[in-house]
Amino acid sequence: MKLSYGRIFSDKLDGEHGLPRARLDDLTRRFPALLGEVRARRRDGDYGFYDLGEQSETVAAIRRFAEGVGQAYDHVLVLGIGGSALGTKALVNALRPPAWNELDDEGREFFPRITILENVDPTSIAAALRRIDPRRVLVNVISKSGGTAETLAQYLVVRAWLDEALGQDAAVRHIAFTTDPSKGPLRAIAEREGIAALEVPPNVGGRYSVLTPVGLLPAALIGIDIAGLVAGAKRALERAESENLLANPAALYGALHWAADAWLGCRIHVLMPYSDRLKEFAAWYAQLWAESLGKRVDRRGEVVHSGPTPLGAIGATDQHSQVQLFMEGPFDKLISFIRVEHPDEEVRIPSREGLPDELAYLPGHTIGELLLSEQEATSAALARMGRINLTVSLPALTADAMGELIMFFQLATGFAGAFYGINPFDQPGVELGKRLTFAAMGRPGFPKEPAPGSGGPADVVE
Ligand code: PA5
Repeated sequence: MKLSYGRIFSDKLDGEHGLPRARLDDLTRRFPALLGEVRARRRDGDYGFYDLGEQSETVAAIRRFAEGVGQAYDHVLVLGIGGSALGTKALVNALRPPAWNELDDEGREFFPRITILENVDPTSIAAALRRIDPRRVLVNVISKSGGTAETLAQYLVVRAWLDEALGQDAAVRHIAFTTDPSKGPLRAIAEREGIAALEVPPNVGGRYSVLTPVGLLPAALIGIDIAGLVAGAKRALERAESENLLANPAALYGALHWAADAWLGCRIHVLMPYSDRLKEFAAWYAQLWAESLGKRVDRRGEVVHSGPTPLGAIGATDQHSQVQLFMEGPFDKLISFIRVEHPDEEVRIPSREGLPDELAYLPGHTIGELLLSEQEATSAALARMGRINLTVSLPALTADAMGELIMFFQLATGFAGAFYGINPFDQPGVELGKRLTFAAMGRPGFPKEPAPGSGGPADVVE
């Protein structure tokens, strides 16, 4: 994996915008102290995801399960939300052929189909249950806390559907939980009913958990090389130990994003992979960046309301959509491209008799060449317009590269959190919404709280 970051600096842009080179020296000087702080917090157990580069026992156990019991199913139904779903979606999108569920058994090499039910939209749930055969499904319910309303409501619906089709005893054999090792309602249900339950390490937060059983179990069940994922993650972790900021790409990525926000007012951080297979990865990144860095108070308890706004885009599609804004709109964005140097498959552009002269440049090239040329051209054009951007390049989209990419972004988020001076591992901002939902659904102990400054009905227009 390679990080090209020259187009952050004024001397590589229009001369007017971007970071002066001297700012890089400020960042490199500041970095060893910050790394020391991160290391101290790691010793206190804060950065649990650093342990995920060494998981041979977990990987072996999951593979035994997937290659043994897992073979009995031809559909995996994942129930989970946020950090318990987005990473798995990214893995399926990146590492299985497009339209996986539409392929026949041979096309899927006899691995199961997969459905990930994230939202509690009744239309999606009803449609999924109509489509899936309960006799051939393994339902993987993923919730670290074990009590998330959306996931547990889905579980109750799916459990009733299984019980009705198979009977209660048989239904249990079609369910596996992934949850905290000792706490929470899912763990209690698993113990009471003898349901298989994998463990999420307690010190790995939801959005940092794709490389735990949260993502590894569904990935292994559909034939993704999970040992490769972990090996790639390990490489990213090793590179993140350097005290030299310029030899530590994840820290440099975090530092430059903080600097763009703090020193240039570039508060919108765009991630734009040039690959359809990284579309869900961009959605995973948006959650990781937003939920980790958007905070009201800093580590000292001072109100800061910090946090860049992440935005996903896809190249080349968004060149015909959002790129106009990136090119000519406000100078408030840092755009990170991801390019994959060698696609799995190449498609040649054929020639054709009578082709108009203005199209004659296309035949002889490949579709992949066109995509990568467009990425480089967009990056260069943005630079000419004074727009800061950087590029992450992957040699190919393998499990190993994906593991490295995921860990790279988790590390970068941790380092960015240290630069912002906030805690990137909590999410107090989502708690109030949860409390109000519980109140609305009548959960005991959660009384309805009046809206501030009103007792009357909301203002509406119909
Ligand atoms: O990143 C997070 O911590 C959240 O997005 C959680 O993953 C999400 O709220 C789901 O939580 P849980 O896994 O406890 O059901």
